[in-house]
Amino acid sequence: MPSLHHMHALYDFAHAADQVLPKLVRDYINGGVEDEQALARNLDAFAETLLLPRYLMDVVEPNIQVQLWGQSYARPFGIAPMGLQGFARPNMETMLAQAAHDAQIPFVLSGAGTCTVEQIAETAAPYSWFQLYIARDRNVSRDLMRRADKAGIKVLILTVDAPVHSKRERDWRNGFGPNPKLGMRIIIDMLLHTRWLIRQLIHGLPVFANWAPYAPTQKRRDINHFFTQQIPFSQTWEDVRWLRDQWPGQLVLKGILHPSDVIKSLECQVDGIIVSNHGGRVLDAAPSALHQLKLIRNELGPEPVLMLDSGLRRGSDVLKAYQAGANFVWIGRPALHATAAFGLPGAQKLIDILEEEIRLCMAQCGWQTISGTP
Ligand SMILES: Cc1cc2nc3c(=O)[nH]c(=O)nc-3n(C[C@H](O)[C@H](O)[C@H](O)COP(=O)(O)O)c2cc1C
Repeated sequence: MPSLHHMHALYDFAHAADQVLPKLVRDYINGGVEDEQALARNLDAFAETLLLPRYLMDVVEPNIQVQLWGQSYARPFGIAPMGLQGFARPNMETMLAQAAHDAQIPFVLSGAGTCTVEQIAETAAPYSWFQLYIARDRNVSRDLMRRADKAGIKVLILTVDAPVHSKRERDWRNGFGPNPKLGMRIIIDMLLHTRWLIRQLIHGLPVFANWAPYAPTQKRRDINHFFTQQIPFSQTWEDVRWLRDQWPGQLVLKGILHPSDVIKSLECQVDGIIVSNHGGRVLDAAPSALHQLKLIRNELGPEPVLMLDSGLRRGSDVLKAYQAGANFVWIGRPALHATAAFGLPGAQKLIDILEEEIRLCMAQCGWQTISGTP
């Protein structure tokens, strides 16, 4: 396994994580839906987009800060919500939240997280955001919001692009689909990844921690079963309006790709949108998020707060997203790779590498601020 010292790009962490994680977890993280075309489309969209440099500008100290709703973030990217992180490494969410806090960037705890919203807020306030999937039982969603608000969370994300289970065939082949039943080869592979195994044995298998208070018993199996019965749940605009009434802070919809849905969101008094195809994990025929963000910005003008995730792997990708009209961007899988391989120092190094690439690329392109081309 390479050392942290040898990590120079986000892709290096993917290779390092490959060596630590068993196939089941690798596939869960890296996989996309069906033929993984949306996953590839995200990367292609960035590769096909160019940046046209301007020279002879004073770019020694480019400004990479971003303001969102009065809160200042020191770097122009955050860590996207990703569920079941404890399966890759126990306490991964608190490590990423800690790294985000130190770097003054936002970390989003997934509604399918394996740490509680209270733990994350304690680690990373005011940089922690919370992502919700609306549960079948509205009382559960209401109470989750109450807890997030009480813990000091200011921004709530509602993920709208996963109304049903998606057909992630890597997982299904591994026996990790909707009705999990692991095959012998997968179990042996898990046993052979001793470092990962020992951590899981010491810590205990992960649990959807936020859902524990609502489950019939506190047994891990019952909590996880309760969660999978509540979610996924088909949501409507009525649910968005309901959520808007309930949540006192900023409300963001994640997974929007159609300009008309942005307009509807604004009509529901939503504060921001994350243009995303869920990293190619839900609809294989979905367009790339980068392409759609550009289209939505061109159609709707400068007003809506539009963020982006899905496929960012380089500092230059961050610039390409801002060039397309993003107000902020989110990193997904690479954050899991870095932390799975190296824990908190890995998460910190990932943030440093991305920041360094952004600064270099801004200087090369003649950008003085991240939110405006010269
Ligand atoms: C392992 C994994 C779990 C995820 N879980 C969630 C989740 O619980 N909620 C959510 O809104 N998005 C989830 N996502 C999607 C991410 O928030 C984000 O949209 C996506 O990873 C961005 O693409 P990227 O990985 O190419 O950067 C998950 C993504 C991955 C890779």
